[in-house]
Amino acid sequence: MKKLDDLIWGVTIAAAQTEGAYDKDGRGPSIWDTFTQKKFRIKDGSNAKVATDFYHRYKEDIDFTVAIGLKIFRFSISWSRILPEGTGKVNQKGIDFYNKVIEYCLEVGVEPWITTYHWDLPQILQDQGGWTNRKIIDWYVEYVTILRDNFADRVKYWILINEGIVCMGGGYFLGVHAPGKRGIRNFLASTHHLLLSQAKGFKILKEKQGLKVGTAISCTKIDPYQDTIRDQKAAKRLDTLMNRLFIEPHLGLGYPDDDLPILKRMAKYYKIGDLEALRTDFDFWGIQTYAREVVRSAWYVPYLGAMRVKPKKRGVATSIMGWETYPKGISDFLERFAKYDSQKPLWLSECGMALAKDEDEQHRIEYYQKVIEEMKAIIHKGVNLKGVLLWTLVDNFEWAEGYLPKFGIIALDRKTLKRTMKPSAIWLQKYLSTIKAAIIAER
Ligand code: BGC
Repeated sequence: MKKLDDLIWGVTIAAAQTEGAYDKDGRGPSIWDTFTQKKFRIKDGSNAKVATDFYHRYKEDIDFTVAIGLKIFRFSISWSRILPEGTGKVNQKGIDFYNKVIEYCLEVGVEPWITTYHWDLPQILQDQGGWTNRKIIDWYVEYVTILRDNFADRVKYWILINEGIVCMGGGYFLGVHAPGKRGIRNFLASTHHLLLSQAKGFKILKEKQGLKVGTAISCTKIDPYQDTIRDQKAAKRLDTLMNRLFIEPHLGLGYPDDDLPILKRMAKYYKIGDLEALRTDFDFWGIQTYAREVVRSAWYVPYLGAMRVKPKKRGVATSIMGWETYPKGISDFLERFAKYDSQKPLWLSECGMALAKDEDEQHRIEYYQKVIEEMKAIIHKGVNLKGVLLWTLVDNFEWAEGYLPKFGIIALDRKTLKRTMKPSAIWLQKYLSTIKAAIIAER
């Protein structure tokens, strides 16, 4: 049986949250560049023009990764750096940058993983409707083909879309993330096109032999407030939206519209063959989970009929994100996904905890101790978990929350851009040095 020591540890970062260098070397503007310019969208009024300056400091960050004992470095590609006009002319300097990141990872013995899309669409494509425009399937295919042709000779592990529900829900339904669009029509159209794009992207990457191609799914534990049928049904609707919508169509199960009737309206965007085209046998699933929500029935909330019961009202502490941190979700979701397919390799491709400035690091250490307990329990049950990637290395631009939440195990001085290992990084370094030197993901 697999042991805790067999799990591979790594870290995840994303381009829009770290790279900075927003107008350097031919990069075009992304929807997050536009969104951060609008008033009152970002809590601390900040933007990601500099972010952690990963663009210039990638070596330092990869060195930290090695020093801590992490074996995987998952980063995302900025579409606007590769194709400043969204499609068409390739920006060689963008390709050069990611080549340098990949080469350096390999040089120091870290496995590079690529995420093709972590929420930063080129603005020029958004001007044509972004994910609501069906043409995006072709745009995405063009982009992924370029990534494959340039990087797949050295990068074996790929994640296509990071957390569909968060970028479609935040960006095209609630309007709290870029591009700030709202409404059910935007949400349904963009979701369908995103899933179709992902399915096609999978095929494009798999044309190259030997690649391991997966998706990263956001999972939020949803519980009913009271033990009543109405609250249970409300919880089921929200759970369907949050935890099933972005995987079940790929499994050939169609859209889960029995449990969330508004999804029947998705049919408006179908073309013949779409449901079949969505089927995708990913090489692995990346599970990402942070928090739990408790909901009650609320007839006046359109489409969902469910309302969040704030943790405060339930007497539960929250992190600076306003979330109930919920490590228990790790075993819940890994087990749940293993029920879809017990053989499918699973990765905990993100987990982490945000602290406020000056908040005691001991909380993060305890959080990761719980993560380890959760993983131990789940491998004991025989679930095919391969490893864990932390969110995240260096404190960075946390989307609409700006720089207020600190998810990193390394602190960033935003003036000098100096990085300093936090107690949690030192704790982790110690932990990782005590376990058997993890083998790098089989190449
Ligand atoms: C996302 C990250 C984000 C983190 C914390 C994940 O959903 O992939 O980009 O920073 O959660 O909110």
